[in-house]
Amino acid sequence: MSDSMIIVTTLQELWQALRLLDRPLGLVPTMGYLHEGHLSLVQRARQECASVAVSIFVNPTQFGPNEDLSRYPRNIERDLKLLETACADLVWLPTNEVMYPTGFQTWVTVETLTAPLEGAMRPGHFRGVTTVVSKLFNAVRPDKAYFGQKDAQQAAVIRQMTNDLSYPIEVIVCPTVREPDGLAMSSRNSYLNAEERRAATVLFRALSAAQQAYQNGERNAETLRRIMRETVQTEPLARLQYVSCADYDTLQELETVSGKTLLSMAVFIGNTRLIDNFVLG
Ligand code: PAF
Repeated sequence: MSDSMIIVTTLQELWQALRLLDRPLGLVPTMGYLHEGHLSLVQRARQECASVAVSIFVNPTQFGPNEDLSRYPRNIERDLKLLETACADLVWLPTNEVMYPTGFQTWVTVETLTAPLEGAMRPGHFRGVTTVVSKLFNAVRPDKAYFGQKDAQQAAVIRQMTNDLSYPIEVIVCPTVREPDGLAMSSRNSYLNAEERRAATVLFRALSAAQQAYQNGERNAETLRRIMRETVQTEPLARLQYVSCADYDTLQELETVSGKTLLSMAVFIGNTRLIDNFVLG
């Protein structure tokens, strides 16, 4: 761990700074506007690694044309203060030009695993994620990289990419951090007004209802999906995009729940699209 946090932008600055850091090195990739969820990843990296690097980059290639790239929340000053308090050693703030120099034309794509769920709703999203994470891995060369379980499919896709491309990096997925009323922490929660914020707990309520049914012995996947759907429908401000009860590893929809299972959903609360998930089994 170094005495003071180093902040870099260019690749040359990054590589120079990396020489000063002890190994093992943990990387926490973020898009900024940090919350307790991100900080829990930094804490976990702090516990497991001699040095911790955090990247902050709102990655344009993972946003669709009608998504929220231009209004995605940003507050670098605040993020840097939080990271200093969390004892990060290095913060990398690449610009668009550093990440995607003029003429950029190389992409990383994970195939089957990106087809359902978020991949089906957000075409091109995972191509952007895997390309940028691959670039972060190549530039930082961490020993471990930390991601949140809230983005369950993203975590699975990054794990697949890491294996497929033989990165010598351990991908560590940390539990979702929730507000006291169950809402999963997300930078996008800042879009919600007071009424929407209250309505947003419907994701947690729907997942909890399905989990309760599972704990009571329900194994029919369609019944669990129906319970989630019906719970979301009780909330007037909510518009369901999808619910899923899928195999945890393949993300394929199930008929019967037997092994490790991912319950997940995407719901619009007003104009804000939120996702959440629980793991069963
Ligand atoms: O989860 C996120 O914040 C982003 O998708 C990530 C992994 C930093 C890539 O831009």
